Amino acid sequence: MSLLASSLGKKYIMALSGLVLSLFVLGHMLGNLQVFGDPYLINAYGYKLQHLPYGLLWIIRLFLLACVLAHIWAAITLKIQNKKARPEEYEQKATVQASLASRTMIMSGLIILLFLIFHLLHYTVRAVPGHEYNQAIVTNDGTEYPAEVILIKNGKPMVDSYGKPLQVHNLHDMMVAGFSYPLISLFYVVATYLLCMHLSHGVSSMFQSVGLRNETWRYRLDIIGKIYGWVLFLGYASIPISIWLGVVKATV
Ligand code: HEM
Repeated sequence: MSLLASSLGKKYIMALSGLVLSLFVLGHMLGNLQVFGDPYLINAYGYKLQHLPYGLLWIIRLFLLACVLAHIWAAITLKIQNKKARPEEYEQKATVQASLASRTMIMSGLIILLFLIFHLLHYTVRAVPGHEYNQAIVTNDGTEYPAEVILIKNGKPMVDSYGKPLQVHNLHDMMVAGFSYPLISLFYVVATYLLCMHLSHGVSSMFQSVGLRNETWRYRLDIIGKIYGWVLFLGYASIPISIWLGVVKATV
């Protein structure tokens, strides 16, 4: 059996792809939290990401996609292998000991995947009604905001190398409009809570998979995993909740 297809190889693939994805969600959360600052911040951030040199944006996107696919493939094939290897009774006994987060990894992972597909249609492809590409962004109460705005820093319009005002995607108001829909906000909060649960267990078991967890560290890593998951949940959920409570408002 080749190393990649062996149980050990798959565990390494799960751990490494999981590590990349866990770091991505932390970075993405920190980037998104800029919505609490001056609208210039998040709009300029989105503009910089969209204009990364040397096709870097697409290289990062393809790399992340490969990590998502490898993570899912390893999870499903390992689950099937485990089912074949363990008699039913053993599995039931093991379940009594396991935490809710660890028993629901496949389920929470699948819901996070569904969320991700919706999320990409919502904010990246912008195919969800009210958020279509190059059209005004529409809130739940019908208010319209422009899809693009001029980047304003300290009250002054920013200009490109030809001296033309910099027209950028209106990311700030798109987020505000997106979360004015209660069902959409609720879906984001539920999905990020499941992400928190998934990571609480995943971060710790990542070390187990690569043989870096002994009994002393097991307890510590479980706590680190829980803290990591909760930090992400609070950071992500604070965005739809604050917008919903009117703490963050549209700018134009
Ligand atoms: C409150 C929660 C979240 C908010 C407000 C948010 C916001 C955004 C926005 C505005 C974009 C589009 C960026 C742009 O067009 O420049 C985006 C893209 C993306 N988000 Fe999120 N996000 C959230 C949660 C998540 C979570 C939990 C995940 C992963 C499970 C995730 C994964 C992604 C990915 C993969 C992209 C595509 C990046 C790209 O290729 O352009 N997001 N997000």
